[in-house]
Amino acid sequence: MEYRELGSTGEKVSVIGVGCWQMGGNWTGMSRERAVKAIHKAKELGINFFDVAPIYGLGEAEKLLGEAVSDFREEIFIASKVGLRWQKKFSPEQRDLTPESMRWEIEESLKRLGTDYIDLYQFHWPDPNEDIEKSLQLALELKQEGKIRYIGLSNFSVPELDKANNYTDIASNQVLFNALEHDPLQYHGIPLEYRTRSEIIPYCEENNISVIPYSPLCQGLLTDSFNIEDWDEDDVRNANPKFKGDWLETCQNKVDQLKEIARDYGRPLVQLAFNWLRAQPAVTTIIAGTTNPDHVEENAASLEWELSETDLEKIDRILA
Ligand SMILES: NC(=O)c1ccc[n+]([C@@H]2O[C@H](COP(=O)([O-])OP(=O)(O)OC[C@H]3O[C@@H](n4cnc5c(N)ncnc54)[C@H](OP(=O)(O)O)[C@@H]3O)[C@@H](O)[C@H]2O)c1
Repeated sequence: MEYRELGSTGEKVSVIGVGCWQMGGNWTGMSRERAVKAIHKAKELGINFFDVAPIYGLGEAEKLLGEAVSDFREEIFIASKVGLRWQKKFSPEQRDLTPESMRWEIEESLKRLGTDYIDLYQFHWPDPNEDIEKSLQLALELKQEGKIRYIGLSNFSVPELDKANNYTDIASNQVLFNALEHDPLQYHGIPLEYRTRSEIIPYCEENNISVIPYSPLCQGLLTDSFNIEDWDEDDVRNANPKFKGDWLETCQNKVDQLKEIARDYGRPLVQLAFNWLRAQPAVTTIIAGTTNPDHVEENAASLEWELSETDLEKIDRILA
């Protein structure tokens, strides 16, 4: 396994991590027993970074992760999130970074994870109704109390990130980024206030903040087995407008060209997708969403090879 430093924390995290959204259910193929095996396989391969959030499966993903890692909790890095309250009436996914809500959320997460602390506590989305400094102040209190170790952000634009980083040390920003989506404008229909490659990456590189790309496989599109026909009716991806319009058709042609490059290396498309991200500045750990131990192994094996400079340029031309 290859490790990189998370921001300026001094902590070494694996370049391939595991994203646990899928473990909350509503993703085709999810089985609890297999997901636990996937986590154990990851640990065996030296993967030490697991990304989760309270909202994934409305608490279920945190519970599953906590149970699966209970025998080796101290040896791994749990990155969870705060600020999306699904319990609120009339508003299923309300952003809330008020100190009162954050205080309540941390206790719920710790209970579900069966742990005394969360290694990286990430603000899931900016809350336009709350002063970021108040939320950060609360996070600093949690740090002092030993309930969290480091503060991270997610989906924050450069001005928001800069304001936060001037207030206290920010370890990371988790953003939408993959070989097909360099500067995406929206995520699941939610407009994005940031451009990843042209804005977030240079800022983070300059300020030693880790970029944690989410959706590294574009929710499965960057795999050799992508087929919408196979999805269960309640698969969350059915609600992603991206998979309905012209975008998918345009991408399919690019995906075919990327597959050809991967084939020249004798490697699957997923490994090309991870290696493209691994070659980008500031990218520290890539959270591959999977519930399958064989896929964990295949994803970790991306680190056995690298894309040449010529192919990185060729990929940029395909994507331009
Ligand atoms: N901060 C945010 O706002 C945010 C938003 C979205 C996601 N995230 C985080 O990012 C993580 C990953 O992103 P994502 O959920 O969008 O999904 P993703 O990682 O882009 O893709 C996940 C899909 O790829 C499949 N897959 C994984 N490895 C594979 C392999 N080797 N071969 C074939 N298929 C493979 C998975 O199926 P199998 O289970 O069958 O492997 C799953 O269907 C999430 O789990 C979550 O932790 C964060």
